Order: sequence, then structure tokens, then C-alpha cells
Amino acid sequence: MKTPLVVGNWKMHGSCAEARTLTGCIRQGTGALRTVEVALAPPFTALSTVATILKRGNLRLAAQNVHWEEAGAFTGEISPKMLRDLGCRYVIVGHSERRHLFHEDNRTIAKKIAALLRTELGPILCVGETLKERDKGTTVRVISRQVLSALKGLPKNGIGKITFAYEPVWAIGTGRNANPDQITHVHSRIREILKGLLGKAKATNCRILYGGSARPENAGELAGTPEVDGLLVGGASLRAEGFLKIIREFSRSWRGQSLEE
Ligand code: PGA
Repeated sequence: MKTPLVVGNWKMHGSCAEARTLTGCIRQGTGALRTVEVALAPPFTALSTVATILKRGNLRLAAQNVHWEEAGAFTGEISPKMLRDLGCRYVIVGHSERRHLFHEDNRTIAKKIAALLRTELGPILCVGETLKERDKGTTVRVISRQVLSALKGLPKNGIGKITFAYEPVWAIGTGRNANPDQITHVHSRIREILKGLLGKAKATNCRILYGGSARPENAGELAGTPEVDGLLVGGASLRAEGFLKIIREFSRSWRGQSLEE
């Protein structure tokens, strides 16, 4: 059975000193936890600070963005190799803030995914519809297009290494999370696409996270939602106590599920 993954996306928040304190608290609070995989995605400026603390322990390091080239004249960009060099395990790709504020399109996202897989880093591919798209009834079409275009041309074993994150744009940072039915509906569609590409067993092993206003108060419900294999947490990952509560909810549900098996 797959272990749930909970990722804290700190976005553009915090000094190195704040990153050190937050990481220290999360590391202490998770201790020898094995039932949930936890990853922290600090801003680039704090990756090295956080990496040093995470060298001891089970927490993973993640980056929030990447460029697809290995090296070259690309002012302001960071390559997959540089991230691997720092000890990153995961990289978030296609976050809606990158898509909408920085005009990243599906082709760019596909290039980033391929580059990460070449460098043996784990992409966390974010997909999600806007409120307008949901209201028009095009959610599933939008999500399918985002997933299929990101996976185009990739070998099966590469696709199997991708973590998917369904993040409805209207739920990010708004305090209004998607409800369990909405989440299960979209996650099941992503799983169907993966079954078509990889076969049932491998598709079942892929993790599909939910993201968008996940908080300590709704983490229990999200952990118990069918097809949710973890969370991508923004705002609530900036406070150690709340983030640890979210992790504990997933730990509880994972243990529950494994007991039934
Ligand atoms: P939020 O952000 O938890 O603050 O809504 C989620 C995300 O952007 O990944």
C-alpha cells in the first residue's frame, strides 16, 4: 500500500532564520514517523538551510519550480541538476500561480516534467480548473487536457514516478476547499487516465494529492476522502502546530486503512 504524502508549499514566505525554526519544529514534531511521507518546499533562498536540517531525519526536500535546461544562459533560472545537488527529492510543477501569474503553459510544463525525470527528481504535477471552468461544467475536460499534455511522449516508467496534485484554482488560498465528492470525482478521472496509460496496478500506485485551503480543521475529512493520497498545503504549512496536526490526521487514516487490509 502506498504511503500518503503531505507537502508544505511555503511559496514566497520567510527568511532563512524563519525557515530554520519552522523546519526544526516540524522535524521534532514528526520524529520517527513512518506512516506519512512529509516534504517541505521552501523558497529557493532557504533550500540550502532546510537541506542541512533535513540531512538528519525522514523529511524530504522539495522545490517550488525548475527550468528544463541543464545549464546555460538563463538568467534567474534554476536547473534540475542544481536542485538534485542540494538534496531535493521532489519539485512542484505547473502550480496554478505559475500557470496564471507567470503564463506557464502545458508545453512548458511538459518540458519541465521530462527534465525532472531525466535528472531522477520526482515531479509533483499540479492541475486544476478555475471557477469559471467549473461553472461551465468543463472541469473534467480541463483536468484531462492538463494531465495528458504534461505526460505526452513520456515513457511508462517515467509516468509512474510522477505525483499528481489536484488543486482547484478557486480553492487555493481562499479558505474554501473542494468538497469530498468534487475531489473524488476529479481524482477518479485522473486515475482512469493513468489506468489507460499504465495499466491498473501501476496506476493504483500513483499518488494523487489534493490541494486548496487544506487546514487542520478539514484535514481529517480530506484524509478520509476516497482517492486522496495526501495533500499539498500552502498557507497552513507555515505554522508548525497546524501542519503537524494535518500530518497526524493522515497518519491516523493510513494506519486505519492498513489495519483493514
Ligand atoms: P493553500 O495553497 O493551502 O494556501 O490554499 C495550496 C497551494 O497553493 O498549493
